[in-house]
Amino acid sequence: MLSFMSAKEAAEKWDISQRRVAILCSEKRIDGAMMVGNMWIIPSTAEKPIDKRTVRYEKTKTITLKPFVKWVGGKSQLVDEIEKMLPADGKKVLTKYAEPMVGGGALFFNILSKYDFEELYISDINAELINAYKAVKDDVNNLITKLNEMQMTFLPMDENGRKYFYYSVREKFNSTVLSAETATEKAAQFVFLNKTCFNGLYRVNRKGQFNVPMGAYKNPTICDDENLRNIHEALQNVTIVCGDYSLSKSFIDKDTFVYLDPPYRPISETSAFTSYNSESFDDNEQIRLAQFIDEINKLGAKIVLSNSDPKNVNEEDNFFDDLYRNYKINRVEANRAINSKGDKRGKINELLICN
Ligand SMILES: C[S@@+](CC[C@H](N)C(=O)[O-])C[C@H]1O[C@@H](n2cnc3c(N)ncnc32)[C@H](O)[C@@H]1O
Repeated sequence: MLSFMSAKEAAEKWDISQRRVAILCSEKRIDGAMMVGNMWIIPSTAEKPIDKRTVRYEKTKTITLKPFVKWVGGKSQLVDEIEKMLPADGKKVLTKYAEPMVGGGALFFNILSKYDFEELYISDINAELINAYKAVKDDVNNLITKLNEMQMTFLPMDENGRKYFYYSVREKFNSTVLSAETATEKAAQFVFLNKTCFNGLYRVNRKGQFNVPMGAYKNPTICDDENLRNIHEALQNVTIVCGDYSLSKSFIDKDTFVYLDPPYRPISETSAFTSYNSESFDDNEQIRLAQFIDEINKLGAKIVLSNSDPKNVNEEDNFFDDLYRNYKINRVEANRAINSKGDKRGKINELLICN
């Protein structure tokens, strides 16, 4: 007689999530699986399907997703270097991806464009940024409508009209409290301000109010509907969390690739790279992060951490070399603005630290 197991039992047997089992059943990838009532039952003899998602690093996807906001410290230049740190095909199967300090997500969107991870997790301490990610995931049509309206109003205006419009959006953004009712409106304002403000900076004053002046872009793309819709699709199996990176510990396990990109230790006296929010990321914060990395290292996760190299400024500064003495430390070259005005650029080293 044919015996069956539940989706929960199959999940335990095959060491995958129950949700994944349900997806495999509905995709007809498990012979003999049947829906009874609202539950899947699976023949006890069924083999775990060979899941294309566990064939890592096969570049099967064709859509290119781009970050939908500009973000200070964005890692577009380092994406290729970081990608090389994914374990080579076949060596280790990683099914989960976590980026707990996602910012604009240069690496995250590259990964989403190319690889099939089963589960993904992103977070950031910046509530407005995370609200924008959630609006793209959950309410993309309304977000696009609002952004298109702003784009059509703003772009034809002259300099004075644009200034008036920009500062009135900034004022509304600062005076509106984030809530379920205001979420999409605030997300649209956030994306608009990001695309039109000076250098895409996100800086707030002591009261937490966004205070970046208008930028000087001639024809900024405020609403890239196609990219937003593609991101919307791709975000559907991504958990999006607003909060401290340490919350990601409950998601991370031995099958997880974790990329951490904390705010920089300033590389010059004048640089203001740490003003993402009212809290700065000082050396004690860097030490707390290193302790967290030790914890997830013990869980068996594959970890990559990037940071600025303090040796760019002071050859004797061994802060990160000491903090991460038990890890591999790679120095890679990047072009970066080396002062807060962004007008002085040069080649500097970035640190890529991994286990
Ligand atoms: C260098 S940026 C990340 C840039 C990102 N890799 C990109 O490509 O755009 C650092 C991010 O860490 C976030 N952050 C700062 N402190 C944090 C914390 N304690 N927990 C989570 N995120 C934090 C900041 O809001 C910022 O978005």
